Amino acid sequence: MADLQVRSEIKDQILYLTINREQKLNALNRAVLSELAVIIADAANNNEVRGILLTGAGEKAFVAGADIAEFQNYSLEEGKELAKTGHEQVFNAIANCPKPIVAAINGFALGGGLELAMACHIRVASENAKLGLPEVTLGLIPGYGGTQRLTQLVGRGIAIEMITTAEMITAEKALAIGLVNHVVPQSELIAKAEEILSKIRSRAPLAIASAIKAVNASLQTDVNAYETEIEEFGNCFQTQDFKEGVSAFLEKRKANFSGK
Ligand code: COA
Repeated sequence: MADLQVRSEIKDQILYLTINREQKLNALNRAVLSELAVIIADAANNNEVRGILLTGAGEKAFVAGADIAEFQNYSLEEGKELAKTGHEQVFNAIANCPKPIVAAINGFALGGGLELAMACHIRVASENAKLGLPEVTLGLIPGYGGTQRLTQLVGRGIAIEMITTAEMITAEKALAIGLVNHVVPQSELIAKAEEILSKIRSRAPLAIASAIKAVNASLQTDVNAYETEIEEFGNCFQTQDFKEGVSAFLEKRKANFSGK
């Protein structure tokens, strides 16, 4: 299909997604967001997909934010709608996706770009990456979950400092404060993300989906997340994957999970 802004390809059960607006530092315009919404919704239900690797085209930027040119004339209502639709269809859909999503942060991850990376389940950054939430320089605040997810990941003090000063931090600093899981040279970035995903790919898919659900429940104020864990733990016992995992262990062989 012509003019797609997100490249998408499944290889060895991993869905590779590349935001493909290199000339605009992969800024999130409406087309990117709506393509991502469709792809993530499909991937959640696609048995061929066991994990997702999300990155940006080129070596300069993961995503340098929401597309500033697109929203410059927005009203209050349009601003709210932009954030609400983005939350529901892309950022929360990523965070709640039953397939683990690894962000490979290959350069600038700013504003909506850092919010996108924070919605993912795991973050790996290249040494040249710069991360920040510079929205207050535009008279805005983060609108795609940044105030919440940054606080959850690094704590309130650092989150408020990063958001109110709008300063970018280095990959090394991001690692030190727990904002990213790993930092590697740019040339090793995709391989590192693949290494993580290839481990995930060999594990029981339904158990992984349950684990994501239970961990995410800890961030909700309206549910008892321990109850979610109990529920999901119980659900695992009725899966074929559980029977296969236990049989494989007892028979001293490698498990072959079907995701059923
Ligand atoms: N929205 C729209 N376009 C963007 C963009 C964004 N968030 N970030 C970068 N671009 C565009 C630039 O306008 C430029 O387009 P042009 O070549 O047509 O003029 C192109 O991407 C390259 O960016 P440029 O600013 O020339 O690169 P740089 O190396 O000088 O600076 C940054 C890189 C990331 C520091 C700078 O682009 C920047 O500050 N971007 C905005 C970051 C931001 O505030 N994001 C939060 C948005 S809510």
